[in-house]
Parts: sequence; C-alpha cells; structure tokens
Amino acid sequence: MRILVTGGAGFIGSHLVDALVARGDEVLVIDNLSRGDSQNIATSAKFVEMDVRNSEDFDSICLEFNPEVIHHLAAINGTRRFHNEADLVVDVNVNGTKNAISAAKKCGAMLVFYSSPEAFGENEEMPLSNLTNSVFTPANLHQRHSYGSSKYIGELLCQFAVRNGHNVRIVRPFNAYGKRLRGDENGQVVSMMINSNPIIVHGDGSQTRSFTWIGDLITALLKVNDGSELSGMAFNLGSQEETTILDLANIISKLTGSDIQFGEKNYGDSARRLPDLESNKLLEWKAETTLIQGLNQLL
Ligand SMILES: NC(=O)c1ccc[n+]([C@@H]2O[C@H](COP(=O)([O-])OP(=O)(O)OC[C@H]3O[C@@H](n4cnc5c(N)ncnc54)[C@H](O)[C@@H]3O)[C@@H](O)[C@H]2O)c1
Repeated sequence: MRILVTGGAGFIGSHLVDALVARGDEVLVIDNLSRGDSQNIATSAKFVEMDVRNSEDFDSICLEFNPEVIHHLAAINGTRRFHNEADLVVDVNVNGTKNAISAAKKCGAMLVFYSSPEAFGENEEMPLSNLTNSVFTPANLHQRHSYGSSKYIGELLCQFAVRNGHNVRIVRPFNAYGKRLRGDENGQVVSMMINSNPIIVHGDGSQTRSFTWIGDLITALLKVNDGSELSGMAFNLGSQEETTILDLANIISKLTGSDIQFGEKNYGDSARRLPDLESNKLLEWKAETTLIQGLNQLL
C-alpha cells in the first residue's frame, strides 16, 4: 500500500512508519520537524519537510505520491503549549486537518484522523464513548482547551467529509507512551517523570489517565488502516487500566530513584480519562500491556 503519514517524525507517527515499512508498505512522511526528529524516520520511508498548513504543497505532494491512505498526525502537542500558544495550536490543528481532508479528497485516499480524548474537554462522565458530550470551560479562564476544541473541530470536519461520501476514520489515542516520547517541559507526563528529578506531580495527583503502550496502539492503528467498512467510526484506543498521576509518579520513582514533589495544577486538567471500548470490538483489539510491563520495557 502507498501510505502518507503527516507528523511521521514525531512519537506515534514514527512508530507507525516503522510498522508500515516493516510489512512492505511504501511510505511518505510529511513533517516540519517543529517537534519531531528526522532521525526517527525509518530510512526506507521517503521524507518531505513541509508545513501541513501549506495547502498548495500538501495537494501537489499528495497528487504526486498518490497515496491510498493518509494518516494525519501532524499537530501541536504538549500540554503546556495548549495554553501558552493557543493561537498556533488552533491554526496548525484546524487548518492542517482541513488541508489533510482536502488533499485526501483530491487524491481519492482514505483518511485516518488523530483526535484525542481531550476532544471531550472536562466531561467527568466515564468511560468516554462516541456518545459522550464535550464539555469546555469558559474561554476567558484559560486557553488550555485550544487543543481539545481543535480536535473536536477536526472530528466535525471529518464527519462532514464522511457525510459527503469520503472514507474517513477517527482514532483517539489515550496517553500513549514508549520509546521516543518527548519529555521536555511541554509534556508528555510519562517521559517528563522519567527524565526529571524531582518528579513534579501537578495538583494532588488524584487525576487519572489510561496509559497505553505504543506497541498496543500501533497494533490497533494497523487494524484501523486495514479494516473495511469503518468509515465515520471513531475508536478510543486506550488501556482499561486507570491510573492516578500520583500512582504513576510512585511507580516511576521506584524504578528511577527520583524524589516526588507536588506542583501547581495544570489549567483544565481533566479529572479522569477512561475509554469506552465498545466500538473497538469491531477491531477485535484491546491493550494487552500493563503499565508495569510497559515501563519496565521502556526503562
Ligand atoms: N501521544 C498521545 O498519547 C496522543 C494522545 C491523543 C492524541 N494524540 C495525537 O496523535 C498525534 C501524534 O501525537 P504524538 O504524541 O506523536 O505527537 P508529536 O508531537 O511527537 O508528533 C507530532 C508531529 O507533528 C509535527 N508537526 C507539528 N506541527 C506541524 C506542521 N505545522 N506541519 C507539519 N508537521 C508538524 C511535529 O514536528 C511532530 O513530529 C497528534 O495529532 C496528537 O494530537 C496523541
């Protein structure tokens, strides 16, 4: 298969590219390297350094490569940036997705859009299913939800394309972790905790997440890529093991010997995040790796 991966120099994208080239797919990566690293890209994949906001270049690269599938991962990620660079987050995440949908239409490719559980905002009803409402706090309080709302708009644009006859699938990874996960000051939490001493727990650490091993996530993504009749469907790709941030800190502290300190709560941090797995039955997938197993592999 010919597959185009935007954001393929980043964490999830580069693992996806590894898996695709390993099974013989022809892969083209588009990334502007703003957070990704070209060293992450498998040598047998083609690479074009490009900003997904550039619709003309996006279209012409797409028409030239003529992919059967586009995985659209390029986005501004990293919790701190959502509040601090809200304008950039909306620009890249919304316009990049609009361009990905448009390019997919022009070259007749199926699109896989990478949304997020943050698209549900601060809704505390768990588990998060395809019928859960999105709950966003007033925008004057903070701009953290620039990210979640940009993913919500991305889903809306995808569903609009589906209504107009295009083959689009949506995935929502739940706190994926593994090799190459960036642990700079912008997140994400597992790598930040592994790389820092002391480990900073934001708030009281009672907020929960469903940490998902990258290998399990990639298995699901290949099923979404290969499955038939999945258009318009959204998949919550997360572990059923709900872990508090404080428990995560304690586990990592035991493994690395780092101390733990409590810091300020992050704006708009959702209290819980647990996926409903109903739609995943179609994929015949569930995360198999426990947090302890994953962290042991990683460390
Ligand atoms: N990591 C997770 O657990 C998680 C959870 C939910 C959703 N997601 C989504 O999955 C996707 C991949 O996440 P990730 O963790 O690999 O993030 P990442 O930051 O490692 O990867 C994103 C990639 O996009 C690239 N990029 C950013 N802006 C770009 C632009 N304007 N043009 C071209 N490339 C650009 C970056 O350089 C980077 O390589 C993102 O869409 C993210 O929102 C990830």
